[in-house]
Amino acid sequence: MTQKKLDGLKFTWWAPSNIALVKYWGKKVGHQLPANPSVSLTLSTAKTRVSLSVVKSVETTEDTPWIDLYFAGQQMPSFIPKIEKFFKYASGELPFLNDYKFLLKTENTFPHSAGIASSASSMAALALNLIELEQVEKGVEYSKEEFLKRASFIARMGSGSACRSLYPFAASWGESDNFGSDLWAEPVDCHPIFKSMYDSIVVVNSAEKKVSSRAGHGLMDEHFYGKARYHHALTNWNYSIGWLKEGAWDNLGNLVEEEALSLHAMMMTSRPGYLLMEPQTITAIQLVREYRYRTGVPIYFTLDAGPNLHLLYPQDVRAEVQKFLEDLKKDLGANVTIIDDKIGTGPYKEDGL
Ligand code: PMV
Repeated sequence: MTQKKLDGLKFTWWAPSNIALVKYWGKKVGHQLPANPSVSLTLSTAKTRVSLSVVKSVETTEDTPWIDLYFAGQQMPSFIPKIEKFFKYASGELPFLNDYKFLLKTENTFPHSAGIASSASSMAALALNLIELEQVEKGVEYSKEEFLKRASFIARMGSGSACRSLYPFAASWGESDNFGSDLWAEPVDCHPIFKSMYDSIVVVNSAEKKVSSRAGHGLMDEHFYGKARYHHALTNWNYSIGWLKEGAWDNLGNLVEEEALSLHAMMMTSRPGYLLMEPQTITAIQLVREYRYRTGVPIYFTLDAGPNLHLLYPQDVRAEVQKFLEDLKKDLGANVTIIDDKIGTGPYKEDGL
């Protein structure tokens, strides 16, 4: 066998998680194509480091494992099937994947079972490494913009929401009448108020999700409210893009809460239905709203497909919100933790390699 170009190469990228303001929930026919456009804020503290090494070139018939994977220094065979599935799909675009064996070393800045989805940050970081390899393989150098778009396109194949983790501050994914693509996400123009915004993640339960996103998206196909939801989401997306640009946080904050509750309403009314909020989730929602109505402090909540809350607020109210969060923690009980995050500048390549 002739020595292949990529043997021995290694790249390392960090990518952050993101939190959707307008939710992606439900797919079009095809591979990971969203039924409606979504928009998210890019986080900063909750992120994943992925280093990808090309171990050696192989004959396609060789019967040894494709991928070896370490998570936080421990060999993690249980993570491999998801990555293999992703590689298999991505090899349609990146055929060189079939010619090599790979070693992946990955770690999160947040505890594995913190209830924060790590698929967005890990798939985004992995996709960035794959595009590095593609550049070498093809002998091309993409412009920064093309590089991120290509990484977003590939990340989407691993986890839909991952394609939004490639950009600083805010990103949008999905086609609308006059903007965007279902195939990759794009950066969104946003007002400075959002660039320094905080996200305090209230972890009320860190257990594995009760329903996988794949199954949840699938339940939208036959959902009685499916069409109405997609129309609703598109309308909300249109408002959000404008309000992000204008800095209209109070308008957007109310919409963000409506989106979170709509996502859960969809889950509650699926067949079968899932109730993913917990008593502490409801208590926290009521306390956040009561605090906002009483003080005028612009703090709004959102939820992913689980019981944990993301509390979003601008930098200038940080001090008073800190006090509120201390009380909230006491009210919710000893098992609740709060992860302090904020909006960030997107992925980066690790130096010195
Ligand atoms: O990327 P997936 O397939 O894990 O779906 C993510 C779905 C939500 O997190 C609930 C919403 C979103 O847009 O991120």
